[in-house]
Amino acid sequence: MKLLVTGAAGFIGSAYARLAAAEHEITVLDKLTYAGRRENLDGVEHSFVHGSIADPGAVREAMEGCDAVVNFAAESHVDRSIAGQDPFVQTHVIGTGVLLDAVRELGVGRYLQVSTDEVYGSIDDGSFTESSPLDPSSPYSATKAAGDLLVSSHVHTHGLEAVICRGSNNYGPRQYPEKLIPLITLNALHGDPLPVYGDGRQVRNWLFVEDFARAIHLVLQKGEPGAAYNVGGPDECENIEVVRRVLELTGREESLIEHVADRLGHDRRYSLSSDRVRALGWEARVQFAEGLERTVSWYRDNEPWWGPIRSGEYREWYERQYGRPLGE
Ligand code: NAD
Ligand code: DAU
Repeated sequence: MKLLVTGAAGFIGSAYARLAAAEHEITVLDKLTYAGRRENLDGVEHSFVHGSIADPGAVREAMEGCDAVVNFAAESHVDRSIAGQDPFVQTHVIGTGVLLDAVRELGVGRYLQVSTDEVYGSIDDGSFTESSPLDPSSPYSATKAAGDLLVSSHVHTHGLEAVICRGSNNYGPRQYPEKLIPLITLNALHGDPLPVYGDGRQVRNWLFVEDFARAIHLVLQKGEPGAAYNVGGPDECENIEVVRRVLELTGREESLIEHVADRLGHDRRYSLSSDRVRALGWEARVQFAEGLERTVSWYRDNEPWWGPIRSGEYREWYERQYGRPLGE
């Protein structure tokens, strides 16, 4: 197959491209936002188109001759969506629409939309199934839900062969350090304060990035057209417990923990039932304890990857978001 993988210069898309390129020819379409980096694709054979999924010309150039499309392209950080929603609407809603029109016009056989557990909102007990109602809380999740609904509408109206994969919180190598695990890992390695929102008792369902990539590839090949598939991690954990484990792995003291103002509209808990994707033959292989150890080691050993990030745009974001310069 020839695959178009959008957003593959980012965290999860690059892990997926690494896996899929072993079997398939890959074209990447990526806008290279602050989170997209060509070096994330080092060692992955691919051709590259620099452009936005919201640009019909770039999309047609990249999609011509492809048998399937996997759409990872996104603005992925909830806090940034609270600070300003425009790029989220542009990429998740307009961009998804442009991709869907091109898939239909070019007669591409298969489309997979990468989505998130956040479209279901927060759940105190139990787990969301694929038939749970969409009830997003943030501009990030609301625009992701809008993208999912557009995909479903093209299935219903035009008979498009599309599937949706909704993942829980991913972690692993090459995640931009605005996200909880790489942020506290790098801060702990530097001996800097670890910002914990509110009481830190929020629960996330942690999924190692390679496990999500395998699930996406399976759903692309075997998923039932029109269906959504939840992909949840094997372990759930309170944020404060995640922070304590990172402190242990980096040999730092709990005195680095600093409770800061809570995220606006903060979802308390996410949890997914993954029975449907399990029925296709998927199982998570990496437990949280092992995955976290691998992730912390990767950041410890890969300063050439994160060094340039910590001296660029990220510094400005950090100061705006946390009200203090990075490193203080
Ligand atoms: P990321 O921020 O690391 O990467 C996003 C990539 O998309 C970057 O390479 C960026 O340059 C590119 N991009 C952004 N806007 C674009 C546009 N308009 N056109 C083309 N490229 C564009 O994100 P990630 O964490 O790898 O997330 C990938 C996908 O997985 C997203 O759709 C996200 O909603 C979903 N997801 C993420 C998680 C998670 O925990 N990170 C969990 C479940 C689902
Ligand atoms: O659940 C899937 C989603 O997971 C994806 O769709 C998103 O793209 C991805 O960013 C992630 O969203 P979260 O908001 O859950 O991830 P984040 O790493 O930003 O935060 C994880 C938890 O940690 C959340 O409860 C907020 C908290 N947090 C985060 C940061 C950045 C802190 O306590 N302090 C922080 O500094």
